Amino acid sequence: MNIELMDVKSQHFAHKEEFDNAVLEVLSSGNYIGGKFVKDFEDKFATYYDCKYAISCGNGTDALVLSLKALNIGNGDEIITTPFTFFATAEAIASVGAKPVFVDVNIDDFCIDCNLIEKKINKKTKAILPVHIYGQSCDMDRLKEICDKYSLKLITDCAQSTGTRYKGSRKNTLGEIACFSFFPTKILGCDGDGGMVLTDDENIASAVRAYKIHGSNIDGFKTLKNYYSNINKTMPSNIELHEDKYHNYLIGYNSRLDAIQANLLSKKLDYIDEYIDKRRKNADYYNVALGNSKFTIPKVPNYSFHTYYIYALQANNRNECMMKLKSKGVASGVYYPVPLHLQPAFNYLGYKIGDMPNSEFLSLHTFAIPVYPELNNQELEYIVNVINCI
Ligand SMILES: Cc1ncc(COP(=O)(O)O)c(C=O)c1O
Repeated sequence: MNIELMDVKSQHFAHKEEFDNAVLEVLSSGNYIGGKFVKDFEDKFATYYDCKYAISCGNGTDALVLSLKALNIGNGDEIITTPFTFFATAEAIASVGAKPVFVDVNIDDFCIDCNLIEKKINKKTKAILPVHIYGQSCDMDRLKEICDKYSLKLITDCAQSTGTRYKGSRKNTLGEIACFSFFPTKILGCDGDGGMVLTDDENIASAVRAYKIHGSNIDGFKTLKNYYSNINKTMPSNIELHEDKYHNYLIGYNSRLDAIQANLLSKKLDYIDEYIDKRRKNADYYNVALGNSKFTIPKVPNYSFHTYYIYALQANNRNECMMKLKSKGVASGVYYPVPLHLQPAFNYLGYKIGDMPNSEFLSLHTFAIPVYPELNNQELEYIVNVINCI
């Protein structure tokens, strides 16, 4: 047998004609940037989350950067986040000029430990940026309580958690602003790069729209005006509104979801609950079959509806297990081998080994096994047999 860790091709082939046609429809339309296909997907995604505004963008990293910019976060600001995530989470913070402040994760659910957050808050702290890691929901009530108490913004990194629910609701997993990735392997993945920002706040939505297109148009004007009003100043009178893309009010970016990806994502969104259901069934199968093994299986708090972007086991002899799996044709992977506080790029922050014990432990002991929706029963049985013989 040869089983991939993540198999994006089989997802395409399950609905090949429909997905191929989605691409062809855009190619024949001549409508490649912006327009109907992008708007339709934004509306459909907003409805899926019962959220007012969905603003698509180039990828999940941009979704984070645009969100931070829209909240006016930059030099001198501190943002509390987790070290047990993909690099982009903290990279986005640093790339807008702010400082990532790491708080360790819970050893059981791998999400930010809310009990450790308050002692990291100071006058420079502007926001908390938790990650629903692997598809597991963070404790949103606790996070919202802390944000309310200290007047902080809550930005959720939902790159791995499309469809995840907190206390029964998808919307409950969103902060004031939420950031999604549609990287091909993600729960909702396109055939290239893609991202989305969700918010219920009209001004934040307008600012994200402005920053993603070079700070231009009415959104750019409005965001600049809001900026002056927030610092109790009037906008200089020589700045006038021009509703076109050649008047730029802010230094922004070029970050667009292209129409081909948008149309594909619209079609795939019809299947997302099916995909999630299958991922959860696969995880249930592993939980039962490996529950009494020498491996630690994922723990899920009652409030979390886990979507299993990643199903990770823990083992003392991780490398040996992964080698054994490989020798039997089963791919596995490590997410993530280096916790962010120990990444060379964040050396300037001055963290050292031992500062985030749980993240460091998980980085050394967890490994992901295949859990993607298209796995069949024979493959699942085979994986379990291989693991149980290690
Ligand atoms: C937690 C997390 N945040 C952000 C990102 C960035 O998303 P993208 O690769 O679409 O830029 C990813 C993607 O892997 C991720 O897993």
